[in-house]
Amino acid sequence: MRDRPYTLLSCCVSIDGYIGNAASRLLLSNDADFDRVDAVRASCDAILVGAETVRIDNPRLLVRSQTRRVERAARGLPESPAKVTVTRRAELDACANFFNAGEAEKIVYCASQGAADARMRLGPVATVVDAGDTVEMRALSTDLASRGVDRLMVEGGGTVHTQFLTEDIVDELQLTVAPVFVGDSAATRFVRDGVFPWNPGSRAEPADVQKLGDVVLLRYALSSRFSER
Ligand SMILES: NC(=O)c1ccc[n+]([C@@H]2O[C@H](COP(=O)([O-])OP(=O)(O)OC[C@H]3O[C@@H](n4cnc5c(N)ncnc54)[C@H](OP(=O)(O)O)[C@@H]3O)[C@@H](O)[C@H]2O)c1
Repeated sequence: MRDRPYTLLSCCVSIDGYIGNAASRLLLSNDADFDRVDAVRASCDAILVGAETVRIDNPRLLVRSQTRRVERAARGLPESPAKVTVTRRAELDACANFFNAGEAEKIVYCASQGAADARMRLGPVATVVDAGDTVEMRALSTDLASRGVDRLMVEGGGTVHTQFLTEDIVDELQLTVAPVFVGDSAATRFVRDGVFPWNPGSRAEPADVQKLGDVVLLRYALSSRFSER
């Protein structure tokens, strides 16, 4: 068992680097890219998003393609990967799609301050893990590995991206650039402020560039564990 899962961060950004409006879901990608993301989801054991993404986007986070679901089932896997979220306040709705769509396990990593609330609200629909005073993404990743997660997909939002990237626990970045501008500094950026391992003195390694209809997919190898699969 690896000490942490192979971790792939997948995100769609506008040309000016935004991933969402302040309070509503922003659809940036196109059908070809949604289908590619679906294939990536189907290849993973778990998908992680931040609590704000659960609240704003209300995502289902399921594998959409019937063929891919059948292929997973034939391999003895749940039709869709496990879903993982992280919260401090535990203000999550047990009726959200995150908890109600699909049969796979749902795991909520909660800072100790909100753990009792989280158990009360979400206990019937998810496994709640008290992650200590501060939820650290490296410790969370190690815990996921101990639960059998070998391949993790991180799907937003900006706060979560920032922590995974600054803690240097992302092996691969898949960044789709949509041909639109958001032009609103109140919108959510791909990442927030932080000290990133990749900077003008230490550049990330581009692995591939692909045009999918009107969006461009950039793949970066962020660790020596980067794999083509
Ligand atoms: N374009 C894309 O590909 C894409 C994908 C996903 C999301 N988005 C967009 O991204 C936006 C949301 O991003 P965001 O940066 O505001 O939020 P986020 O990263 O989705 O979630 C942030 C929340 O997660 C919890 N959290 C994060 N780190 C934590 C830690 N270390 N310990 C405990 N809890 C922690 C906190 O929840 P509590 O507040 O509950 O304590 C925090 O408020 C939305 O607009 C969404 O539409 C875009």
